[in-house]
Amino acid sequence: MSDQGEQKSFQERIDNGETIEPKDDMPDRYRKQLIRMMSQHAHSEVVGMLPEGNWITRAPSLRRKMILLSKVQDEAGHGLYLYSATETLGASRQEVIDQLLEGKAKYSSIFNYPTLSWADVAVIGWLVDGAAIINQTMLARSSYGPYSRAMVRICKEESFHKKQGYEMVAKMADGTPEQQEMIQDAVDRWWWPTLMMFGPHDEDSPNSAELIKWGVKSKTNDELRQSFVDRHIAEAHEVGLEIPDDELEYNEETGHWEFGEIDWDEFWNVVKGNGPMNKERIKARREAHENGKWVREAAEEYARKQKLSKEKAS
Ligand code: 3HC
Repeated sequence: MSDQGEQKSFQERIDNGETIEPKDDMPDRYRKQLIRMMSQHAHSEVVGMLPEGNWITRAPSLRRKMILLSKVQDEAGHGLYLYSATETLGASRQEVIDQLLEGKAKYSSIFNYPTLSWADVAVIGWLVDGAAIINQTMLARSSYGPYSRAMVRICKEESFHKKQGYEMVAKMADGTPEQQEMIQDAVDRWWWPTLMMFGPHDEDSPNSAELIKWGVKSKTNDELRQSFVDRHIAEAHEVGLEIPDDELEYNEETGHWEFGEIDWDEFWNVVKGNGPMNKERIKARREAHENGKWVREAAEEYARKQKLSKEKAS
């Protein structure tokens, strides 16, 4: 879509709230932005299985093990769903996965932090999936059809993820002194990295303006972060937990919580690959990809044989 006229009519479609489908004409830049965002979203879901997966064998009860197993399986499904949605833009699954394995593609910074105790599983469900719900509820209204439809299904599962996490948080916050200490320690470690999930401040976000112009995003990084803070501070106080931010102050006028400054050096350090667990996460993904090679080869051979027998039959 090179000429001005076509770009203008595309923008009119977006401004009219129309949904763009895979076979529609679209600016190359729109396609590129979506491939970037959706493939990195898919990577985040799959890498996101690792921190919690670390605790499946050590869940404190059969019930908790079953819930965690189904949550981690959901994340795998979200990743596959999003890789499929990315393929509708012409980006092959192999191509985008290779970019991740070669360290050329990003995934959410949050998954580069270690899960040190069972309380981390609770807090990830409550805060990280809580943040994902706020972001993904917005993306469910994205202008690109396959992405917004994928979000509708994923958001339903995310709300279960958050509820199971918050149930554990409430239980531990009301538990023994050791449990209370564990859950507060987990909140102290995860609160600020979760705020970083929403990306840099709007003025430092090179992609936001374009994504908003094209209706991919309808809220800015800071707007989403503020919604997250307002909702989760209330939930923390409901169960008697403290938020690790001395600058927290409720602004009666705006109805929002004002909060301290994020450590952007830490954020960019993690995004650039120097976080506490970046190397382990990519190593685990590379090993899983290598171990799964025989499955891909068998599936490809099966598909080849199926195609051959169909051609013979016709
Ligand atoms: N981690 C890693 N990289 C990040 C980041 C983060 N938390 N926040 C921003 N970045 C990167 C961006 O990817 C971009 O780099 P790129 O141009 O090379 O891709 C750069 O920093 C500048 O950021 P921008 O604000 O300009 O980028 P976006 O407008 O794309 O905003 C985003 C970043 C908020 C992550 C947005 O891309 C988005 O909403 N993506 C879809 C949702 C998503 O990916 N969520 C990740 C979590 S998935 C999850 O939580 C699973 C759940 O089940 C737990």
